[in-house]
Amino acid sequence: MYINMSKIEELKAELKTLGREYAKIKTLPESERKAFGEQLNAKKNALLAAIKAEEEAAESADVTPIDLTAPFAENAAKHEFKTGTKHPLTQELERVAKIYRLMGFNVIEARQLDDEFHMFDSLNFPKEHPARDGYDTFRTEEGFIPPAHTSTMQYRALTRFKNDLEKYGQIAVVVPGRVFRNEDVDATHEHTFYQCEGVFVSKDATLGQMLATWKNFFETYYGQKLNIKTQPGFFPFTEPSLEFQIEKPKALGGKGDGWLEMGGCGMIHPNVLRTAGIDPETYKGFAWGGGIDRLVMLKYGINDVRYFESGKLNFLKEF
Ligand code: DAH
Repeated sequence: MYINMSKIEELKAELKTLGREYAKIKTLPESERKAFGEQLNAKKNALLAAIKAEEEAAESADVTPIDLTAPFAENAAKHEFKTGTKHPLTQELERVAKIYRLMGFNVIEARQLDDEFHMFDSLNFPKEHPARDGYDTFRTEEGFIPPAHTSTMQYRALTRFKNDLEKYGQIAVVVPGRVFRNEDVDATHEHTFYQCEGVFVSKDATLGQMLATWKNFFETYYGQKLNIKTQPGFFPFTEPSLEFQIEKPKALGGKGDGWLEMGGCGMIHPNVLRTAGIDPETYKGFAWGGGIDRLVMLKYGINDVRYFESGKLNFLKEF
């Protein structure tokens, strides 16, 4: 699927691309410059005229204002009412949650404002440690932190479901959520994006179960078998820590040779369990977390992450 920008935006993008062509003039031999320049000017004028025509057409489009005091039926007869749809990320977050629910996980919601304890202390970041700067966190004047990852929910997941350890012998929770980082924004980086965190604790949890869980999730999401690969990573809240990659799905043009970094995972650090009141001598756990926007971009061939937060109707109408 391709993202259908409005005609005007498309023309403006073309104009911008054309603008860059002008730099080529000085690289050409003197004799060719004039003709090339004239060609560019002609194209530019045609584009400007087309943009103007589209803008005028949009302005003069016949729009009857809705009379908010009139009965619904009267308005419905006069206007074409369109039903909205859920935001593409909401749709996909619901699919993600459903897959995990079918695997037996509880799903809880993250929050959009958090604090130093959940962002760092409860996750075994040493006080004043430089790793705290690695997350490019925003802060409010009052010292609150819009979460930079869904791992801020680990302490809450562990404490809230601690009773499940006695009842069912395990804690199994996933937490989709919106996260924020003070990043330079471009086609692959947003300051606001989504992640999904998973936490599992039992007496005999293993890294093998961890890898199988996440692999199974990706295979269900993309509807095909996938190879996975890990490499050592570092997160203060897991030991050992891994970075997790999947093979680029064939359904999406992968040939079994491309790897995609999907997030981090590992065995929950004993200090994290201890802080949540769970005895690490008796229980072990694994945790994992990664981005959702990338999953969705890959699935639909969206090439710019900024569309998600842009509020552009042309984009949203495609879903
Ligand atoms: N929160 C990490 C990040 O956003 C990813 C992560 C790594 C989550 C290891 C985990 C984990 O749960 O165990 O970079």
